[in-house]
Amino acid sequence: MRVLSGIQPSGKLHIGNYFGAMRQHLQLQAEHNCFFFIADYHALTSNPAPDEVAGHTLGVAMDYIALGLDTEKTVFWRQSDVPEVTELTWLLSCVTPMGLLQRCTSYKDKVAQGISPNHGLFAYPVLQAADILIFDSELVPVGADQKQHIEVTRDIAARFNNNYGEVFTMPKDHIIESVAVVPGVDGRKMSKSYGNTIGIFEPETSVKKKIMKIVTDSVPVEEPKDPDKCNVFALLKLVASPDELGEWDSKYRSGGMGYGQAKKRLAELVLDYFRPYRQKRDELEGNIDYVREVLAGGAERARAVAGKTLERARQAVGLRR
Ligand code: ADP
Ligand code: TRP
Repeated sequence: MRVLSGIQPSGKLHIGNYFGAMRQHLQLQAEHNCFFFIADYHALTSNPAPDEVAGHTLGVAMDYIALGLDTEKTVFWRQSDVPEVTELTWLLSCVTPMGLLQRCTSYKDKVAQGISPNHGLFAYPVLQAADILIFDSELVPVGADQKQHIEVTRDIAARFNNNYGEVFTMPKDHIIESVAVVPGVDGRKMSKSYGNTIGIFEPETSVKKKIMKIVTDSVPVEEPKDPDKCNVFALLKLVASPDELGEWDSKYRSGGMGYGQAKKRLAELVLDYFRPYRQKRDELEGNIDYVREVLAGGAERARAVAGKTLERARQAVGLRR
């Protein structure tokens, strides 16, 4: 099956991104024909500094490769290296009702937060629809926050096909639900925009420090604690073996355990989990040319597919005849 997903280069990737999205992307490679890309056009909607766009794009590329992206099998590229997608965005825009975009909650949320929206932010879901449709994607693995964007994609594809004939494959979403929302060190959802993240590849001492500062309640050491209400336990669930997790569960419930003890073990487990990939990540840092080559090779393979779909769409609407 053709599987496609994108991730914005809007900051350094954190363990919430990994357990919430990247791990599943990487697992899908074994069985499917995967297309993964770095959504740098989308990142521009928040007007980041130019050096940040470039730096984070390479950072995300290195993270994915270090964590096991199969550069032979999987097509991996930078969105802006396949400009066909922006032309398709225009063709799709012309069948997209304003109301469809006005109803998008991610747009409404940003406006409610006081962000003065630009046209790019409003049109964001149309660019995302173009990303998906131009590669004849069948399955789009995304977090629950992106479900509406996939529905918008299906709606746009149906309108286009209805007007012009069967040009696009109808994609299915695949909501990644294997883990709940990963909490950040302050207990809110871990997110680049809250400054509460634990980076996948940040220095080990910094990971330890952050974990030791995770917010917990003030139940005294000797008293029983509820693991289901604890941010430290929520993170332990991601990295501890089932047996060990069971032991922590009993320690919490029986009392006599301080949170510091659980945090110390959590730090060890998080560092152990990502340690095998750190060396590869460091090697890539010293070999940026190789990373650029991977992205260029991916872009070439992606363009070959995108060009064909775009031509179909151009013909369908009456251009280039
Ligand atoms: P951020 O909130 O840090 O900016 P993004 O919105 O760029 O993260 O998310 C990229 C991917 O990572 C999405 O698929 C999203 O669902 C997933 N993700 C981000 N934060 C978390 C989290 N705290 N828990 C689980 N998944 C997450
Ligand atoms: N909007 C997605 C996010 O913020 C990123 C994205 C862009 C994407 N284009 C896509 C995801 C196409 C899946 C398919 O997470």
